[in-house]
Amino acid sequence: MCSKGLKLCLALELLLLPLCFLETNIQGYSEHPESAVSGSNVTLPIPDWPHNHQSLTLFYNSNKKILEWEFDKPNPHFFKTTFKDRVTLDRENGTLYICKVQKNDTSTYILKVVMENWTEKEWKIPLEVFDPVPKPVIKIEKIQEVNNSCFLILSCVIPDNISVQYFWFRDSGPFPKELQSDVLNISIKPQDYSKFYTCQVSNSVSSNNDTINFTSACTPARSSGVAWISAWLVVMICTVLGLLLT
Ligand SMILES: *[C@@H]1O[C@H](CO)[C@@H](O)[C@H](O)[C@H]1NC(C)=O
Ligand SMILES: *[C@@H]1O[C@H](CO)[C@@H](O)[C@H](O)[C@H]1NC(C)=O
Ligand SMILES: *[C@@H]1O[C@H](CO)[C@@H](O)[C@H](O)[C@H]1NC(C)=O
Repeated sequence: MCSKGLKLCLALELLLLPLCFLETNIQGYSEHPESAVSGSNVTLPIPDWPHNHQSLTLFYNSNKKILEWEFDKPNPHFFKTTFKDRVTLDRENGTLYICKVQKNDTSTYILKVVMENWTEKEWKIPLEVFDPVPKPVIKIEKIQEVNNSCFLILSCVIPDNISVQYFWFRDSGPFPKELQSDVLNISIKPQDYSKFYTCQVSNSVSSNNDTINFTSACTPARSSGVAWISAWLVVMICTVLGLLLT
């Protein structure tokens, strides 16, 4: 737009600059950021998108530009960022697409649009990217039979120290809210024994779980237990055979 009469244009812009600042109005700001799981493609609609405008600039944050786009150019100008081949903006319907989002794409993006009357409109577009939660493992911290009841402490362990919500349930349904944390501390009578306990961990984009089976109130049935017994048998047989052969 400034190719011809550059000086005049610059002068005009200088003149209009204070006006632009005065008239910048924030169009959209969502208090609730869009959540996405890392690796996914994200679609961010821009509300009240103006069809006619002079130019637009997309920012990662207030001091890092992703792209600039003059209205009369078919393609945007991309700045050197990790977004170069991952960001698409649909100027027809006002939609921002980001491919293969990563955790550090988490930001409040800013879109500034210079309107036909030289006023500026601004959108703030918050995005939060989370890694999927890893598979938890239930560990038996304590198992003890006292007066015909079973005292049981189970912990739900995830490898990374990431922020998740824990949710435990058994064959008859979820445990009450006050028992929900990473450690489950319960006492079970033989008549209300559960065939299994499941710990489900979740963040706002994904969930994962582990289950431990029980054959009676105080007897866990773990596949790892079976593996341990067979390893023990192999060692025993070898030892016995070894003794017999010497
Ligand atoms: C994301 O978009 C890319 C390119 O548009 C496509 O190849 C890929 O399959 C998409 N991935 C998902 C998870 O939708
Ligand atoms: C537990 O996780 C598996 C995948 O790991 C999933 O198929 C299943 O639906 C989950 N169960 C619950 C109750 O969340
Ligand atoms: C628990 O029992 C169910 C069937 O009752 C079985 O499908 C599952 O594999 C068992 N889980 C473990 C960890 O042994």
